[in-house]
Amino acid sequence: MNPKESNILNGADSSSIDIAVRALNSDLLVAIPTETVYGLAARASSPSAVKKIFTTKGRPSEHPLILHVAKIEELSLWASELSKDALVLAETYWPGPLTLVVRRNNKVCDEITGGRDTVAIRCPSHPITTELLICLGDAIVAPSANRFGKVSPTSARHVAEDFGDEITVILDGGECSIGVESTIVDCTTNPPQILRAGAVTAEQIEIDCGITVASASGESRAPGMLDKHYAPNCKVELVSNRNDAETRLANLKSNGQTAEILDFGADLKTYAHELYARLRNADKRLVDVVIAIKPSMTGIGIAINERLKKASN
Ligand code: TXA
Ligand code: MG
Repeated sequence: MNPKESNILNGADSSSIDIAVRALNSDLLVAIPTETVYGLAARASSPSAVKKIFTTKGRPSEHPLILHVAKIEELSLWASELSKDALVLAETYWPGPLTLVVRRNNKVCDEITGGRDTVAIRCPSHPITTELLICLGDAIVAPSANRFGKVSPTSARHVAEDFGDEITVILDGGECSIGVESTIVDCTTNPPQILRAGAVTAEQIEIDCGITVASASGESRAPGMLDKHYAPNCKVELVSNRNDAETRLANLKSNGQTAEILDFGADLKTYAHELYARLRNADKRLVDVVIAIKPSMTGIGIAINERLKKASN
């Protein structure tokens, strides 16, 4: 697929922000950079714009969206009640890669939450998106800017490859610094629960805030966290170490398959940063199998393992 890159605007130009604001105010979708992954944004106060996200992505309407705000003070504009834990978490990690699920007020339209009485809110830290939000004077809702069930985008070019013909404005803010989606913490339960792993871990929350968060499983997980998700076209196989990866690689090659190893040693930050780009690149080159060495279950390694498991299902 040839990316339609004429839609990519340099987000560092203020004229690009003006164009993006005009598009959002006309109920069009705009792709935005964040520190986690690129998002496909609609103005939060326009139900018809929000609906376009679901049709454009091919996403089921009952999968709720994350509301993105410019600053911490805006949390109370959309939430009906806030626990002390929610406030402490926002104060500690915002702007940054943490999404909080809280009770919503009636400013939040049903299209965003799929009719739920809770809403997921985050304050991203990418300066271009912060500026966009301030100029817009409204919140935006933004899922990852990929086709439903596919690999999330970590560059403007990835978005153009998926949606070049359908999105008129893609704000380029460079490669996403983190590379995997935000941590989601449900603050409506006691104790709060992690619904999706990300750069902010339960261990870090305990250290920074003294708040113990549980890990959710089964029904209580975030709606839309399907077992098969983040899936490239190639097959993803998981192994525990380099030796097993080499053995499997030799085996696949002798069977005439194209395969490659994903291995970043102990460098978890680079693993997270490169993961989606490498899977997308493998698809472009029609690689049959990516053999991923599972990172350690520490720090962002937990999120990487979660994504790899889903990609391999
Ligand atoms: O890093 C991120 O969070 C990125 C960037 C673009 O900000 N966004 C993102 O959005 O990952 P999306 O739509 O791909 O994932 C949103 C997740 C879904 O798993 C959804 O179920 C969960 O958030 N979610 C949204 N609202 C929720 C709610 N009210 N209760 C529980 N989970 C919710
Ligand atoms: Mg997503």
